[in-house]
Amino acid sequence: MSEKEHIIQLREELHRHNHNYYVLNAPEISDQDFDGMMKHLQELEERHPEMYDPNSPTQRVGSDLNNEFTAVPHKRPMLSLSNTYNLQEVSDFYQRVSDGLHGQPFQLCAELKYDGLSISLHYKNGKLVQAVTRGDGVLGDDVTANVRTIRTIPLILNNAQDNIPDEFEIRGEILMPWQSFERLNIERENAGEPLFANPRNAASGTLKSKDPKVVSQRGLDAYLYYLLGDEVITDSHYKNMLTARSWGFKVSDDMKLCNSLDELWEYISYWDNMRKQLPVATDGIVIKVNSLAQQKALGMTAKSPRWAIAYKFQTEQASTILREVTFQIGRTGVVTPVANMDSVLLSGSMVHRATLHNADVMQALDLHIGDRVLIEKGGEIIPKIVGKDLEYPDNNKGTKIRFINRCPVCGTILVRAQEEASYYCPNYRHCAPQIIGQLEHFVSRKAMNINLIGPEQINNYFNQGLLHNIADFYSMNHDPKIAQSIEKSKEIPFERVLFALGIRFVGEIAAKTLARKFKNIDNLISASLEDLCETDGIGNVIAESIVNYFASVENRALVERLREAGLQMTLSEEQLSSHSTSLEGQSIVISGVFTHHSRDEYKRIIEQHGGKNVGSISSKTSFVLAGDNMGPSKLEKAEKLGIKIINEEEFLTIIGETK
Ligand code: IVH
Repeated sequence: MSEKEHIIQLREELHRHNHNYYVLNAPEISDQDFDGMMKHLQELEERHPEMYDPNSPTQRVGSDLNNEFTAVPHKRPMLSLSNTYNLQEVSDFYQRVSDGLHGQPFQLCAELKYDGLSISLHYKNGKLVQAVTRGDGVLGDDVTANVRTIRTIPLILNNAQDNIPDEFEIRGEILMPWQSFERLNIERENAGEPLFANPRNAASGTLKSKDPKVVSQRGLDAYLYYLLGDEVITDSHYKNMLTARSWGFKVSDDMKLCNSLDELWEYISYWDNMRKQLPVATDGIVIKVNSLAQQKALGMTAKSPRWAIAYKFQTEQASTILREVTFQIGRTGVVTPVANMDSVLLSGSMVHRATLHNADVMQALDLHIGDRVLIEKGGEIIPKIVGKDLEYPDNNKGTKIRFINRCPVCGTILVRAQEEASYYCPNYRHCAPQIIGQLEHFVSRKAMNINLIGPEQINNYFNQGLLHNIADFYSMNHDPKIAQSIEKSKEIPFERVLFALGIRFVGEIAAKTLARKFKNIDNLISASLEDLCETDGIGNVIAESIVNYFASVENRALVERLREAGLQMTLSEEQLSSHSTSLEGQSIVISGVFTHHSRDEYKRIIEQHGGKNVGSISSKTSFVLAGDNMGPSKLEKAEKLGIKIINEEEFLTIIGETK
């Protein structure tokens, strides 16, 4: 076989394994074999640039090219659905359909309403050619390069099926699963970046990222729910979706055909509760007339089809009086407006504070002291104000709430963060809450782990003028017990020292990557923007922040003091040479979802410690590293063969990583 033929063969095989793994959750080969094949394909493609194909499985990691989004017209407008909120409105819809069909019998397909971003995918000759966001329904953004990195979206369709039209469009929803969302927010919190309020915003921010590599790492998912094209595939929506599934698309298992209003209602009440257990956010049910002929007969209004409707789940709301808005300054200076309100019961807990997110959101709400406001928890972590209670007569009578121009603590004029709606106080070296935040971050467990000094003590030292910056920890007098833990922190590896410095946007993972690449602090200090950007996983924003940090004489002096105090400013010999051998000779199966690292990181960690990743459990497996929601078949097999199951914390202890 020639190398070119080999490229084609490897691409086909990898597409199949990708589908087995991501869409069907049923891998046939080990992750290691998969990675091996991928690496081989990459090498061959490098030798044959003339064989470049944007649909090659190697493109899932995202190319280096920067995205420029072009607005493109939709071939068919992307309509939205009208919303209903109660049984009566659903029943009205049912009656309208029945009347519109002159009493003919009809079936409805009920499915979950996924709460993400709608996407339109175009396929030609079995290949993905274009992905467009909804935009305003007529024009959308071409986000093809980003969408190619989403593992559940097939780049090449299953060519064993002979009923794939030459050209068609399929629509669906791009989502960030709760797990990925929570992990992303933990990373952002560690890096001092503003958090995403909910998975939809996180998915949308990610899909609009200029860097497909970032998209590739964020763990987006997609469900497809609407097939369109000039060619008729089957005569019903439901059968169309089953067919699309056979072509390789991820289609929800939770669609149901209903023959009556009662069946529909049963579906709705079931999912109103059970949706809380789904891995992705949903905000309702979509109800569609199943027969395509009947859909056509019913037609469209200007805004939405007459054959479909959305039923929105109730989000619990409460109403209370707004008393005050305060402005909080975070460790990195970001200003968050926070509403203080009269306490009220919401989804089972008493609430008296809600976030107003940022200046734009606050402005749009047009709040006054004494207004009666509506708050919701919905999918969000922190309660938020969604609007004013319009019935309340005393609204708009108090003082209007305005965003501030100056830092409420140090008085410095606030700066608007690039490309974000947030403002921050740039005075990070002398603004008290920022310094206190930096000091707390420095001693925290994942940084220098000086656990005997807590927030209260830091506050006291700071207020007494004993502690001004992180280097002061090493020059002040401590009681013997604390002195001991300060001494111990001098053994903390370089990568964590780097994280502890609290450089804006440099979270745990970025710090690790930088430590490995640059080996010591001097190389990092002298690195140029280009050097930094060349590092895998380090984008422009992080790179700029590092360059700015070390451009400051004060910061360099701080680092010098820390170096003189004896902190690790270089990768240890052990890390420099090879890695530990604590997993030498062990065959390990990974299953489930994890909190501290992603699956891919665990695979890397296993290899770095001399272990082997294997895809399926056999008698030769040394142990299973199990996260949450371990697959039931894997669990059963492990138990049957008596294979040890180790959880995330136990595993981290084995490899000597403290959490
Ligand atoms: S069907 C013409 N099915 O909800 C019908 N939409 O306003 C096209 N959505 O823009 C939509 N889950 O982003 C359909 N199972 C589902 C859906 C769904 C979520 C979104 C979609 C659409 C909006 C409806």
